Amino acid sequence: MSEFQEFKAFEKAGWEERATGYATLMESVTGSLMSSFVDYLEPVAGLRTLELASGPGFGAAEIAKRGGEVLGTDFAESMVAEASLLYPNLAFQQEDAEDLSFEDDTFDLALCSFGMLHFAHPEQALSEVFRVLKPGGKFTFTVWAPPEDYPVFGLLAEAVTECGSLDVGLPPGPPAEAFSIIDGARNAVEAAGFDFESFVEVDTKISLCPASDIINFYSEVSVRAQGILEAQPADKRKAVEEALVRRYEQFEVDGVVLLPMPHRIVTAIKPQDG
Ligand SMILES: C[S@@+](CC[C@H](N)C(=O)[O-])C[C@H]1O[C@@H](n2cnc3c(N)ncnc32)[C@H](O)[C@@H]1O
Repeated sequence: MSEFQEFKAFEKAGWEERATGYATLMESVTGSLMSSFVDYLEPVAGLRTLELASGPGFGAAEIAKRGGEVLGTDFAESMVAEASLLYPNLAFQQEDAEDLSFEDDTFDLALCSFGMLHFAHPEQALSEVFRVLKPGGKFTFTVWAPPEDYPVFGLLAEAVTECGSLDVGLPPGPPAEAFSIIDGARNAVEAAGFDFESFVEVDTKISLCPASDIINFYSEVSVRAQGILEAQPADKRKAVEEALVRRYEQFEVDGVVLLPMPHRIVTAIKPQDG
């Protein structure tokens, strides 16, 4: 378990700083997708659902809206505080998805929206979800498309490669594309004991912000992207940022960036005899 500990500490410190900015800027992004994710868990009414890596609690809010009993969890204390502030009637608590404090067979359903790619040991998180779900319980998680098909990363990589360096010594994490391709997702959930149910590729466009605000957007919502920008040599950083803004300008419609945000929705079931 010692692999990627530096990555985990880097992620934790980064998310602790970003709760309010992330909540504000991502409500219209991940928040707008949450209803389509919860559809895969249906029915949720009257059932007990665990949300992992819940951030500001958009998923928990959607589940509660549909009559589910939900507990939102995140390893960042500030995210738990932000979610509690936004949704005072819902329950949130600090939990590491890789080491959950719950008894075996506690929840009927589990949701993890865009958390998996931030876990240092996603296979351990899958085992933990499997353990705390009741037999027959369902788990839906979402990830972005592989880096080469996901412009938020692709445009950053292009701008940085053109004017600076991607090799800035950020702590390495597990492979980013592992769950974004069907075989990777299927193998991972099956290795944890789940029956694989579905892998859905969604192509959608989402309004982000004016291109001129995109550097602030990265800084508020992304730990690793901001780490890459911050680590550029002083004499190159301005050129990198300008190159990035130029790329986003191509996606502006009526003054707002409308960006493809392709993602995957993966659903797995804990077998009845699991
Ligand atoms: C990209 S945000 C996703 C937030 C929210 N689910 C959404 O869809 O907007 C990733 C979240 O994962 C959390 N996180 C990262 N590693 C974690 C871990 N090991 N256990 C629990 N939460 C973790 C971060 O604190 C952050 O809130």
